[in-house]
Amino acid sequence: MKTGSLTVVGTGIQLVGHLTLAAKAWIEQADKVLFAVADPATAKWLQTLNPAAEALPYNTDNQRRRDTYQEMADRILVEVRQGLNVCAVFYGHPGVFAYPTHAAIKQARREGFRAQMLPGISAEDCLFADLGIDPGRCGCQSFEATDFLIRERKFDRTSALILWQIATIGNLGFYREGSEVRGLTVLADVLATHYGYEHEVVVYEAAVYYPVCEPSIAQISLSKLPEIRVTLASTLYVPPRSPAPANSEMMARLGMIVDS
Ligand SMILES: C[S@@+](CC[C@H](N)C(=O)[O-])C[C@H]1O[C@@H](n2cnc3c(N)ncnc32)[C@H](O)[C@@H]1O
Repeated sequence: MKTGSLTVVGTGIQLVGHLTLAAKAWIEQADKVLFAVADPATAKWLQTLNPAAEALPYNTDNQRRRDTYQEMADRILVEVRQGLNVCAVFYGHPGVFAYPTHAAIKQARREGFRAQMLPGISAEDCLFADLGIDPGRCGCQSFEATDFLIRERKFDRTSALILWQIATIGNLGFYREGSEVRGLTVLADVLATHYGYEHEVVVYEAAVYYPVCEPSIAQISLSKLPEIRVTLASTLYVPPRSPAPANSEMMARLGMIVDS
């Protein structure tokens, strides 16, 4: 193994309170900390944990977000190749909807460096807590919203559905205010073919500065989706339309009911 390593950690969603003890220890001990977090207060706080903490480049001049994410991964590798123990910090869970973290770990391992990811608290974890959803009750499907639409992902409407990145549907570049309406309209139309326009959904935003701020939970019918204000932190929760019937043949096979 070469000297130099990469540990990727997540801050969670809420400022300070969501960081695991393990993640904090890695941040404090790292030779170099590189971060991509969603709010300036978290950025400042990371610098108090480790004065060698520096923001990753976030170049919005690129046409595609993917190129900006690749630049972040490349930047992380520059420090690892210098033989430093690098801690890369991303918000939420660092492996959930986070291209640069997976790309950097793969590349580091390919080059013979030790690389690992620690789990963190994602927006979906907050959603389960704030909306009182237990994925064990009727299952849970999670998709990136553009991917859900363009690949016509198969899903089960008797199970919960979570759609991420609803502010940038069909947009491979960067968010521009007002640009979300077209994507939300298409999403509402597609979902309505399965659930009906009257189906109630939730546009959800977990609180970052809890307990100063509360989570935002907007319950609306699908027909209102194109009109609602969304932000880059909005996630859509679509509750199941109806319960799934149990198959009695399968229950008998499993010995759950006895054939008479
Ligand atoms: C690039 S992904 C990052 C996800 C993050 N790594 C995580 O673990 O939650 C950005 C998407 O996460 C969701 N998200 C981020 N912050 C959120 C928040 N405060 N509340 C609800 N969803 C959020 C939204 O769907 C947003 O478009």
